Amino acid sequence: MNITVIGTGYVGLVTGTCFAETGINVVCVDIDEKKVEMLRRGEVPIYEPGLDVLLERNMDKGRISFTTSLKKGIQNSDAVFIAVGTPPDEDGSADLKYVLGVAREIGQHMEDYKVIITKSTVPVGTSFKVKSAVEEELQKRDVRIPFDVASNPEFLKEGSAVDDFLKPDRIVVGIESKRAEKVMKRLYKPFLMNGHPLLFMDIFSSEMTKYAANSMLATKISFMNDIANLCELVGANVDLVRKGIGSDSRIGNKFIYPGTGYGGSCFPKDVQALVRTADEYGHSLEVLKAVESVNYRQKSVLVNKIKSHFGENLKGKQFGLWGLAFKPKTDDMREAPALVIIEELKALGANVRAYDPVAMEEAERILGDKIEYAKDEYDAIIDADALIVVTEWSEFRMPNFRILEKLMVEKTIFDGRNIYDPEEMEESEFTYYSIGRDAVGNIKKETVKA
Ligand code: UDX
Repeated sequence: MNITVIGTGYVGLVTGTCFAETGINVVCVDIDEKKVEMLRRGEVPIYEPGLDVLLERNMDKGRISFTTSLKKGIQNSDAVFIAVGTPPDEDGSADLKYVLGVAREIGQHMEDYKVIITKSTVPVGTSFKVKSAVEEELQKRDVRIPFDVASNPEFLKEGSAVDDFLKPDRIVVGIESKRAEKVMKRLYKPFLMNGHPLLFMDIFSSEMTKYAANSMLATKISFMNDIANLCELVGANVDLVRKGIGSDSRIGNKFIYPGTGYGGSCFPKDVQALVRTADEYGHSLEVLKAVESVNYRQKSVLVNKIKSHFGENLKGKQFGLWGLAFKPKTDDMREAPALVIIEELKALGANVRAYDPVAMEEAERILGDKIEYAKDEYDAIIDADALIVVTEWSEFRMPNFRILEKLMVEKTIFDGRNIYDPEEMEESEFTYYSIGRDAVGNIKKETVKA
């Protein structure tokens, strides 16, 4: 089988490489010449564990190639995946100009039957817009070439995208015809060996599934963050509450870890886009509106703790910050809580010296000389008044606290990911703050009245 993947961002590149791994011939198309040159040399422009090895292997076997020409790219393909960006518009709705531009180009150049699959996260109804755009171009050419559209949302997590693609929980495909269903079944057959379901449905439901999945996950996180904040007020420990509710299989123990708010390229954008879509249909998604505002508030929770410890004026205070990426195993800083925290600390006059195992370059690109860049985690906390843990990279989990004690001026830790044990910290020299476990002390058991 031959397929084309248009867009070599993180979704497109992972999709193309993983399909090639099953023996399919893949042509990846991107308008960015520099990127295509890089990929032809076997260099992966994003940080995604395992992707480089897989790409190299499939390039060596001649199963994956890269071009800037969509016309050439789609020549022999049975299926064309559209995996270009859908950046948010000013009002938060997804901008479809790239998706529809690609659809038009496909219509201008296709010569035989194809399934045209939308892989980018797009609002409900987009696949039919893709269909109209292709049809219009075919009409302009005055040719009749059969084609089908399909929707095939991705559920990849950055940092484990290759694994997620090769071993999916499920594959969702929206289709309109048996012919398209047959093509999609053949394509995904190698990924279904372990019994993971391939769910066929109508296109609207498939497009909606992606938004509903991400919104549900974001809801779990915001819910837990809200509960964590209440735990502090009533003197409860969110770790115990999390375990207590997570062991109920209806709730589940995943995605209920409180922290400094969710970030990344998907949750913030998709929650916002779904809220806008609902508004357009005259329906107000109250739950998701709250999810968004809780998340916005959560990004300031650590700085609020810092302010109540040090006061509002942080002039001359030095902070060591661990973790800039929005989560571990990625260098992605889109919507990263670290950006909000840094912004707020700087506004209060503080100095920040940061370290991240992979996002240093990205941070420098975004933040310039706003902060200092450390060469490792210990370098970040030299002469610091406090350490702030923002991303839970594994190497931050077991630091040598002796070294920390020696290097820091004031022994204070603000742990935005609850990676340290409050009991151990209680016995140490450190003043320790975390999320949902700092009973504010205004409720003591003995003062609770009957
Ligand atoms: C997400 C979805 O998981 C994936 O299915 C979809 O295709 C794209 O969006 P990703 O953005 O890579 O993937 O990150 P994910 O691992 O889901 O984490 C998202 C955010 O939620 C991160 O900021 C993370 O720190 C936060 N999070 C996650 C929590 O705060 N608590 C949790 O319990 C889980």
